[in-house]
Amino acid sequence: MTVLDVKDVVVDYKVSGRPTVHAVAGVSLQVGAGEIVGLVGESGCGKSSLGKAIVGLEKLASGSVTLDGHPVASLGRGARPVRDRGLQMIFQDPYSSLNPRRRIWRQIADGLPSEGDGSPVATAGRSARRAAVNELLDAVGLPAAAGDRYPHEFSGGQRQRIAIARALAARPSVIVADEPVSALDASTRAQVSNLIVQIARERGMGVLFISHDLSGVRHMADRVAVMYLGRIVETSPTEPLWSEPLHPYSDALVKAIPKLGLDAAAPVAPRGEVPDPASPPAGCRFHPRCPLAFDRCRTDDPALVAVEGARSAACWLQPAGGPARELALLEA
Ligand SMILES: Nc1ncnc2c1ncn2[C@@H]1O[C@H](COP(=O)(O)OP(=O)(O)OP(=O)(O)O)[C@@H](O)[C@H]1O
Ligand SMILES: [Mg+2]
Repeated sequence: MTVLDVKDVVVDYKVSGRPTVHAVAGVSLQVGAGEIVGLVGESGCGKSSLGKAIVGLEKLASGSVTLDGHPVASLGRGARPVRDRGLQMIFQDPYSSLNPRRRIWRQIADGLPSEGDGSPVATAGRSARRAAVNELLDAVGLPAAAGDRYPHEFSGGQRQRIAIARALAARPSVIVADEPVSALDASTRAQVSNLIVQIARERGMGVLFISHDLSGVRHMADRVAVMYLGRIVETSPTEPLWSEPLHPYSDALVKAIPKLGLDAAAPVAPRGEVPDPASPPAGCRFHPRCPLAFDRCRTDDPALVAVEGARSAACWLQPAGGPARELALLEA
């Protein structure tokens, strides 16, 4: 069941004296209840802009975002509609989003539905709110006593757990997590990733997990969307994206992951640089860097179309030509 439906979203940044940056140039994607969708792509491809636009922190130039069937409003002046709190975001650096001078429990309690915002499931009264916070702390693996402490008294991993607890307080249907584990060391990264998966499954909550770390995404996502220069170029269930990428860009990202083992192929970074999103290449945006580009790719922009099963790709070699990897092998 789709809970988050993103349709044709465009995000532009207008800076005076400079050409408009089309950071997100028409993206559609869905997240289902309890589903973890990875969003990957090189730095600057528009992942954070898309994430912020989805939760209403960035204005949509066009397109729509629907949560549980209701359109989500951009964060304008004044309070956000209560139902929009069903969409929460967690960031790479929880320290910057936590108030250093307030006790943890109060900051988590801020997220609880209250009578003041007209919520039908308000948690009223100090002791009921404190009990609700203790439950949330327990859900993220922290003791109730943590609630009486301040943000600086915690490690990075613990602070990210606190940020997750605060997001959960609003009982979200979907959490957009923007590089939530990128700043953590390897073992803490695995623990926090596992916690996010466990919570999503238990609560039937959707997660859009933004990351430039493909290996991390592989271990937790059900489905992956690959973003390039403001567009989604491939969506796929996680495993086939690795074994048989459909888009040459996905193939390049997979080849760039360091492999273990003595006889493992050395990682190869995608060739060339990401072009300026203010003036994207004509035709397929990836064609200047694509090893398989042919005439049509330089002039016509391929749409994201269903290729096989639950997979789709935006590539002129699909669906007629079969997986890009096989073509590349034929040419080699
Ligand atoms: N506030 C802003 N004003 C102008 N341009 C911006 C702004 N925020 C982002 N951009 C530009 O929009 C494009 C997309 O940026 P975004 O932060 O969404 O990328 P990203 O995929 O999240 O990158 P990273 O992996 O480095 O976090 C980039 O070219 C960036 O320079
Ligand atoms: Mg980002």
